[in-house]
Amino acid sequence: MLISGRGSNLQALIDAASDANYPAEIALVLSNVAGAPGLERAVRAGIATRTISHRDYASREEFDAAVEKILVDAAIDLVCLAGFMRVFSDGFARRWQGRLINIHPSLLPAFKGLNVHRQVLDAGVRISGCSVHFVVPELDSGPIIAQSAVPVLTTDDESALAARTLAAEHALYPMALALLAGGRVKLADGRSVFSETPAHAGSLFVPTA
Ligand code: GAR
Repeated sequence: MLISGRGSNLQALIDAASDANYPAEIALVLSNVAGAPGLERAVRAGIATRTISHRDYASREEFDAAVEKILVDAAIDLVCLAGFMRVFSDGFARRWQGRLINIHPSLLPAFKGLNVHRQVLDAGVRISGCSVHFVVPELDSGPIIAQSAVPVLTTDDESALAARTLAAEHALYPMALALLAGGRVKLADGRSVFSETPAHAGSLFVPTA
C-alpha cells in the first residue's frame, strides 16, 4: 500500500485483511512522506514500512524506479494507492497496469484531481461518492472496479461531505481489493472484466445518515 498521509483507508484494509478469509495480505506500506501518520498504523499492525521521499530524486522516472525496486524486492503482487499524492510516470503505470489500483473521493469520471468535495459542492450535484479504479497513465481515468454513492445534503460543507464520503471509502476499498485479489475482476482490453461474482458486485449505496 502506498500512502502520503493519514492512512484511514490503509486502516480499513488492515482491518479487513486481519480476517483469515480475506484474499489479500498487506505485505508492505510505503510512504513518500516521512512521518506520515499512516506509517504508525502499519507499525501497530506489524506490517513492514518504507519511507522514500520524491525530493531525493532528480526526476519522476528515478523516483518511480526506486519505488519499483522496493516493490519487486518485496515480491509485491498488487499495489493499492490510498491517499498517495504523487502521479506516476507513464512507464510505471504501464508496467503495473492491472496490478495497480487507487481510491478517489468522487464518482469518476466526474470530479477528477484535487479539491474534489469543493468541486462537487460547486457543481450542485445531489449524489456523490467514491471510486476504486485501475491506474492508467492518465490521472484518475482508469477502468472502474467499484463505486459507492453517498447523498450530498443541502447543509453540507466540504468537511461534512468529505467525512460521509470517507466512511463510504472505508467500506468500498476492502470490497474492491477483495474482488481483484480474489480473481473476480481483471483488466482486459482497457476494461474491468468481472467473473464468478454477482452482477451487482462493485456497486454500493450509502443511505442518508
Ligand atoms: C481519501 O479520501 C482518498 O480518496 C483521497 O485521499 C484521501 C486519503 O485519506 N485520494 C485522492 O484524492 C486521490 N486522488 P486517507 O489517507 O485517510 O486514506
